[in-house]
Amino acid sequence: MPDTPSKGAKPPAPGTPTAPSGTLELTINGETYRHKGAPDMPLLWYLRDVLHLTGTKYGCGVGQCGACTVHVDGKAQRACLLPVSAAAGQSITTIEGLASADDLHIVQQAWIDEDVAQCGYCQAGQIMAAVDLLKRKPQPTDADIAQLTNLCRCGTYPRIRKAIKRAAQRLGEVKP
Ligand code: FES
Ligand code: FES
Repeated sequence: MPDTPSKGAKPPAPGTPTAPSGTLELTINGETYRHKGAPDMPLLWYLRDVLHLTGTKYGCGVGQCGACTVHVDGKAQRACLLPVSAAAGQSITTIEGLASADDLHIVQQAWIDEDVAQCGYCQAGQIMAAVDLLKRKPQPTDADIAQLTNLCRCGTYPRIRKAIKRAAQRLGEVKP
């Protein structure tokens, strides 16, 4: 189990899942990591600066843009607002963990097929939000898709909508 650097800070709140040594245990893309540093470090910082999983992006840092969207126990959350102490004991998935060993996730493939990305900066977060939406609403309407609050400065929203609908169709076809 990889250890991550300690930065020495206040101890985690009571009830926070910890390793025996008092460090936090984090499960990210199926791997378990021990964090000895600040329990209030935002998960986004941990992913990018400690684990170098840089697919998850920093946009606003205040929960507004969605560039930092990851899944926490399968649900989309903004990693810039989530302290590592709150992520401990839950299963975190980042864009790097979405594909299987051999295949892209259907949503990733739909993004390619619809040529969604422009600059690309927001797109990892958009995809993570779309995967979460499709779990909740397998056949989302335009109104459902419009509820997504991830921002795109390049205005790729029409292609995002098309890609989500393409993925929904494909997911419907492959369901047992
Ligand atoms: S960086 Fe997290 S919502 Fe913008
Ligand atoms: S593709 Fe550029 S910000 Fe979304």
